[in-house]
Amino acid sequence: MSGGRIPVTLITGAAGEIGQALLQRLAGGPGDPIVTVDLRPLSTAGPGDRHREHCQGDILDSALWDGLLHRYRPTLIFHLAAILSTRAESVPVLAHRVNADGAARLLAMAAEFASPDEPIRFVFPSSIAVYGLPSQEAKDAAAAVSEDEHLDPATLYGAQKLYVERLGATIARLNDGLDFRAVRLPGLISADTLPQGGTSDWAPELIHAAARREPYSCFVSQGARLPFCAMPDAVEGVLRLAFCEKASLSRTAYNLGGHSLSAAEIIARVARDFPDLDVRFQLDRGRDRIVASWPGAVDDTAARRDFGFAPEHDEETLFSRYLIPGIRRRYQG
Ligand code: NAD
Ligand code: SER
Repeated sequence: MSGGRIPVTLITGAAGEIGQALLQRLAGGPGDPIVTVDLRPLSTAGPGDRHREHCQGDILDSALWDGLLHRYRPTLIFHLAAILSTRAESVPVLAHRVNADGAARLLAMAAEFASPDEPIRFVFPSSIAVYGLPSQEAKDAAAAVSEDEHLDPATLYGAQKLYVERLGATIARLNDGLDFRAVRLPGLISADTLPQGGTSDWAPELIHAAARREPYSCFVSQGARLPFCAMPDAVEGVLRLAFCEKASLSRTAYNLGGHSLSAAEIIARVARDFPDLDVRFQLDRGRDRIVASWPGAVDDTAARRDFGFAPEHDEETLFSRYLIPGIRRRYQG
């Protein structure tokens, strides 16, 4: 079946925020060569020794896969390519094609090539967007949400993530060689990159704006609350899930937790280091409503127990040891 094809780790969406962090984390280490796919070129940061080829193209393009799968045999797939939540609502047809159809096609290809002798592990970053709390009052009253509660997404993006989680689990049940694992990520904050098109973007945007000494228009209300995780902790969690023994897993989709922070709390914390911080509130009701439907905190007991998710940063060191020094270095040298 392999026909001389080279075994590789495949990363789609590799030019994105998580993709860049994941690639940097993987590229210097041991393992199969890495092949990446994205609409965009990779950043100039230098992808490292293991990186073999970047294919700039669309995951919806069959010719791209024909070319790649003719030469390579993916043994591990990180399928990151997606259109994030806010943008997905404004381009619903395209978002469905990329987030649902694109993932479904890649899963079908993986299932076709996977066998017990040549298994394929498929890792999918899902999101807190799969949850839908019916009102702000319900959100305020809810405890940290566990994986089987409130699965009633309020956005197309959330519905697409939940669909892929379930499709992946079902296809894997029907195909011995396919091992599907999903992780529901909270909002992520990176010291090195900025997000685009997401709904949790206000937190990283305002922290980076503070370091650049620029005013920031915050599009959610002061009380808007989400769980946030440092990018390196999230990437570490994804990798622990990807490389743990299957026998230790008790489910296919896991929450990764984060620090439950409101916009006002983030502003107060950032102002300790950047006292000139200038944030005005210019509410985008659509985005604020999306945040109101997502949980303020998630329960990640299963991830800690089953694959040892253990974030390095607590709420204070997220800022004092990771974000503030990293962002200062980036903008102030
Ligand atoms: P990102 O927007 O930075 O990266 C996504 C990448 O996918 C981009 O580089 C984009 O060019 C690429 N892409 C989009 N459509 C494509 C297509 N048709 N073909 C090829 N490439 C395409 O997002 P990210 O934050 O790096 O997120 C990566 C994954 O993690 C996504 O699936 C996202 O839904 C998920 N996720 C992210 C967060 C977060 O806070 N960043 C939280 C939960 C889940
Ligand atoms: N952080 C992501 C977004 O806002 C959630 O998946 O879209």
